[in-house]
Order: sequence, then C-alpha cells, then structure tokens
Amino acid sequence: MKSPHFFIYFFLLLFLFSIKSISAQENELENKIEKVLSKMTLREKIGQMNQINGRNLSDQLYEQIRSGEVGSMLNVGSPELVNQLQKIAREESKTGIPLVIARDVIHGFKTMFPIPLGQAASFDPDIVEIGAKIAAKEASERGIRWTFAPMMDISRDARWGRIAESFGEDTYLTQMMAVAMIKGFQGKDLSKPSSIAASAKHFIAYGAVEGGRDYNTTNITERQLRNIYLPPFEKAIREANCATLMTSFNANDGIPASGNDYLLKNVLREEWGFDGVVVSDWASIKEMIQIGFCEDNKDAARKGVLAGVDIEMVSSCYLENIEALISEGKLQQKVIDDAVRNILRLKFRLGLFTNPYTDLNKKTSSYSESHLQAAKQAAEESFVLLKNKNNILPISNKVKTIAIIGPMADAAHDQMGTWSFDGEKEMTQTPLQALRKQYGKEVKFIYEQGIAYSRDTSTARFSKAITLAKQADMVLVFVGEEAILSGEAHSLAQINLKGAQSELIAALSKTGKPVVTLVMAGRPLTIAKEIDQSDAVLYLWHPGTMGGPAIADILFGKSVPSGKLPVTFPKYVGQIPVYYNHDKIGRPATKKETLLQEIPLEAKQSSLGTSSYYLDAGFDALFDFGYGLSYTTFEYSNLVLSTVTLSESEDLTVTVDLKNTGRYQGTEVVQLYTADIFGSTARPIKELKDFKRISLKPGETQKVRFILPISKLAFWDINNKKVVEAGQFNLMVGGNSQEVLIKEFKVL
Ligand code: BGC
Repeated sequence: MKSPHFFIYFFLLLFLFSIKSISAQENELENKIEKVLSKMTLREKIGQMNQINGRNLSDQLYEQIRSGEVGSMLNVGSPELVNQLQKIAREESKTGIPLVIARDVIHGFKTMFPIPLGQAASFDPDIVEIGAKIAAKEASERGIRWTFAPMMDISRDARWGRIAESFGEDTYLTQMMAVAMIKGFQGKDLSKPSSIAASAKHFIAYGAVEGGRDYNTTNITERQLRNIYLPPFEKAIREANCATLMTSFNANDGIPASGNDYLLKNVLREEWGFDGVVVSDWASIKEMIQIGFCEDNKDAARKGVLAGVDIEMVSSCYLENIEALISEGKLQQKVIDDAVRNILRLKFRLGLFTNPYTDLNKKTSSYSESHLQAAKQAAEESFVLLKNKNNILPISNKVKTIAIIGPMADAAHDQMGTWSFDGEKEMTQTPLQALRKQYGKEVKFIYEQGIAYSRDTSTARFSKAITLAKQADMVLVFVGEEAILSGEAHSLAQINLKGAQSELIAALSKTGKPVVTLVMAGRPLTIAKEIDQSDAVLYLWHPGTMGGPAIADILFGKSVPSGKLPVTFPKYVGQIPVYYNHDKIGRPATKKETLLQEIPLEAKQSSLGTSSYYLDAGFDALFDFGYGLSYTTFEYSNLVLSTVTLSESEDLTVTVDLKNTGRYQGTEVVQLYTADIFGSTARPIKELKDFKRISLKPGETQKVRFILPISKLAFWDINNKKVVEAGQFNLMVGGNSQEVLIKEFKVL
C-alpha cells in the first residue's frame, strides 16, 4: 500500500510536468511565429492585417494574394475556391502564409439549429455545445475555419433585431451559453480539421444601442461594463480560450469600440491575458470617420492599430496607410509586429501551415441523421410554453380533426431565422409537413394559411380559415415574424404581431374552438391580447431545420416543453428596457398602484401615490425572465443552506426538494438567484448565479444540490474594484425569477 504522500508527490510531478510541456509547446509556437515574421516585409505584414470580402473575386484579388496583401477572407463561395485561393497563398506567394477563411456560422451551417435566443431558452449548455460542434464540422468540410460567433451581447431591448442572435438579457446565462458554444466550435484541439476558431463578439455594449436601433450609440458606464457586459467576454477568453474577438460598431461613451485602446489593451490583453486575434467588425475601422472620431482613412488606420485591432475587416484603411504612418513615425513597427504575431498564432493554432487544404473527397456530414436529431432536440428544448388553459396541450386522442392556420405553419425559409446563409429551405421541415407526416394517420389535418406572410394585411382569406376552424376540434394558429424582421439592421419601434395576424387570432377565437397559438419570432413580441384570446401559447423562436418535427412531438406530448424565457417579455413596447435584474430603486412599485381607468376625475397630484410605475401599464412585465410552463407541474420545498454565515473564501451548499407533482415525466430548469441587500453601490434586485436541468418522473422527488462559491458574489464596487462585500444576502431558488423560495445568509 502506497502512502498518501506518494500520491500527492506523484500528482504534483504530473502537474509540473504538464505545465512544463505546455510551456515548451508554447515556446515552440512562438519560435515558429518569429521565424515566419523575420522573413516578412512590412507590406506583407500589413497584408496579414487585411481581411477581404470573398464575394468580389477578381484577377486583381488573386494578384493581391500572390503578393501577400491578403491575410484572411470571409464569404468565399465554395471549398474548391477556398483551395484554389489557399494554393495561391501557400504555394505562389513569397511568404507561403496560408489564408484563414471565415464565415458567419451563427446557429448552424447547413443543419440549422434554433436562433441563439432560442438556444438560450433551453438553459442547456450541453445541447448548445453539440450544436456548435456540428456546425463546425459541416462548415469546416466546406473550407471554413473561422466563425464570427458566438455573439454575447447582453440584450435588454427587444426592439433591437439582433436580440435574435443573442443569449438574452442575463450575464450569467449568456456566459454559460457562450462558453459552451466556443467549446463546441473549437473542440479540444483547434488544429483538428473539424474545429473552427470562434469569435467573441461584439466587444462591447453593442446590445445597449439607444432606443434598440441598430448601430446606434451606447452610454454604458465602466462599472456596468464590468458587472454586466464584460463577464461573458472574460469567460470566453479565460475559460474557453476563444481564439478571436470582434470589436463592435458602436461608440460607447464617445469612443468607438475599434478605437478603444483601454478596453482592448488594458482589459483584454493585460488583465485577461488574451493572445488571440482582434478583428474589426465590417468596415468599423473606416466608420470611425463617420462617427467623427477620426479625420480620414489614415487617422482611422492609426487609431485602429494603436487600439489593438489586428485585422481590418473589408475596408482598406490599414492596407493603404500603415506604410506611410510608419515612415512618418506615427506608428511603430513593433505594434505591427505584435498584430501579425497574433494573426500567425491563430493560423498555427488552426494547423493551417501543415494542413491548409480542404479534403474535397470527403463525404459531407451535412444533414446527417445525428445532426438532424440534435437540431430537433435543440428545438424541442428551446420552446417555451407560456399558457396552457385546462391542460389543452398535449393534444388528446379525442381530437380527431385539427385546423392548421397561419403564415408560419409552412414557412420553410422563415423558420430558419436570421443568419442562415447556408441553410436551405428545401431541407427544412415545417410544422405542417411534420404534423401530417408524424400524426397524419391518427388525426385529420386541414390547412389554410389565412394570411400569406407575417406582414400581410389582407383579410381576404379569413373566411376560409374560419370555415376550416369550425370543422375542426382544435385550431393551431402559427404566427410570428418572417426571418427578415429580426437580425442585423432590422430593429422595430413596435414589436407587436405584424399584418393582420392579430385579427386572425381574434377571429379564430370567436369560433369557440380551442385555439393554440404558436409564435415563431426572432424576439419577444407584445402579445398580451393574443394570449388572452388563446387557450394555449407556445413560443417557438425561429426553430431551424428540424422545427417542424420538434413542434409536432411537443404538441402531441411525445416530448414535454422545458424551455424558460432568457429575456423578459414586456406588455408594451414603452416599458422597454424591462429586465429582471435591474438595480434597486428608492420607490419601487407594489401591486396596489392605481391604473389609468381607476383614476378619479380631478384627482390631486399626489393622490395616486409616488412609486415607480406607468399609469397605463403598471410596472410588471408580461412574462418574467426564467418563466416557462411544462405539461407537468413541479413543487419546490425544503430550501436548506449549509450555513447562514460564511466568509468569501467558502462555498455555500444549497439543497432544495423538487417534486414532479403532475402526470408527465418532465424536465425543470431549477434556477438559483442571489440578492445583495446592501452594497457600496446600488445592487441588482436579484441575479442568476446557477441553474440545473432536472428530469423527473411523475411523483418523483429529487434533492437538488448547488454549490455556490461565495466568490461568485463579487462585483465591481464603488472604487471599480472587484470585491465580495460583507453583509446580508438573499438566496432564492425557483422555477422562474419571481416565484422562488428564499433564505438569508451573511458574508462576514
Ligand atoms: C456583423 C458581424 C458579422 C460581420 C461579418 C457585420 O455586419 O455586425 O456580426 O460577423 O458583419 O459578416
């Protein structure tokens, strides 16, 4: 029997050895970089910093690659073309440095997964990682080795079309999902041909554009950046080794992200130790002129380089001006060398020097059965059941005829959502197709669109829809937004159902038949009225290629909804921004406020009370963060903390009993929140700190256990230092952000 000391020494040695071998590998990598760098001319170095749009191919571009003036490209049409361009870079240019080919692979390549906002609703990092791994495999087979994802902008404003690409409003959920997605894209070994480099974007605060209008300015304080917007990026870099990062379009507090040397150098490089590539967003170096931060292209190049943006995407300020800036002494060679080191590091890490070409003979894995099944699972987990009056869902076997109505029931293109460059509508399975295929033997489905597309204002086909509804035992009405209504540059000032969709639901509800409303959208919509008019409401986001089969199985109870809202749903657009974790205020509203219609005539100025609410909307949201029903019910009890006083270096163990009190096996997302009662600055009402997906059979109870390191309670305090402040905290556990069990504890 070996003594315990033997094992301690053994593991210590192993640990030291692995550190040594990692640093030996790193030294080797840095040596390789220096060797390549030492042979490059200044022009060739600048070329590495130049990223070209691969859509506009010309003889001139081929020549530019040959002379070393292009380092990377995005949107190159085919793997054959990738190989052709790569051959020029590798074999015909003097440096022989391979290109890296990028593309926006955001939520799937061919097999489309739900939009990221939908994926976030799953609260399931595992399926997000699987989805990204599949996307990486499919994309890399087509020559793509770099994606501009995940987007980790905290989005508290549903008017912003890019909320669809985000993981919602919460910092912790976003960081968990972002880390999972990066791991999926990059794999354990970035040099494997099936791995692709991820890009943490958009750095920074882009989700906070004023008024939710894309590309607008932002004004987020450093403390808010530190507490809310930066943590997902920090995790992406430090925990998931994200290979690249993209700066955003916006100026925050007057400084464009692509010219923000404090954030890119002091925070990203120095504090977090990032040694990967910083890429600008599309022409965002040049747009610093439009913002009024730079005088001209030359000034933009200088400020971009000095801030630490290594690669300029598509505009050519760098290519055209860096040489002159150096000869005029306005830029130092060293800054350029450092940028090129970062770029070469990425190319070595991707294994492109040894394996630059795509194997064109390899059979594609796109749409393989396992990819489709994973996309189906992701879709099922993303759906959020918002209402289910009298347990009308799942559909009972008494229902013999179902009317399928609405513009989104058979919208193969639109259900893929925004950023589905490579998805093909011919491969998309719609709800109409899937319901007929999977359940057509048991149930008669009758179909009428009623409205041609989501913005269609014509009611001409309503009468046919109503006639069909009257013949049926139940109505499924598929409404929402076409894909083009969300995503980049697609902000909305009103986030209601467009066209005549609302009237359609109203008309169907008047038939007296049970109406199930299914919403496919890229954002939360203001649907309070439509919810009242429906018996059940299922929120589907844009669910991707396998949306149809997933919806069919959920409707018929083969699977049970488990998604929870990753973002608060406002009742009215005017309530925005409305999010669950806002800072405490001096006059919070209660449920007793007087609403518009209740105000007596000539009421005195202060007679309504003086708390924070809208006379016409109250103060609460339509649905809170974390909300989502199941076909079964869950009961929480017996919340126990391992101690009620502890220090910041300790862990708090939290247990709660979760019981499935309903009739179906189901999965509950158990959410753990904390609230810092008093701090050196105002603190959020509550903050999500952990969650777990727990599956239980009917009647089953499980003791769910969380370990909460007290260090997780740290925040950026009044002095902009990250600290855990001593004092009283609340610990809350529940199935959404509002209905929770509460216990107090104290940090000494
Ligand atoms: C978007 C980025 C995207 C880039 C490249 C930009 O317009 O903001 O998110 O990665 O284009 O397509």
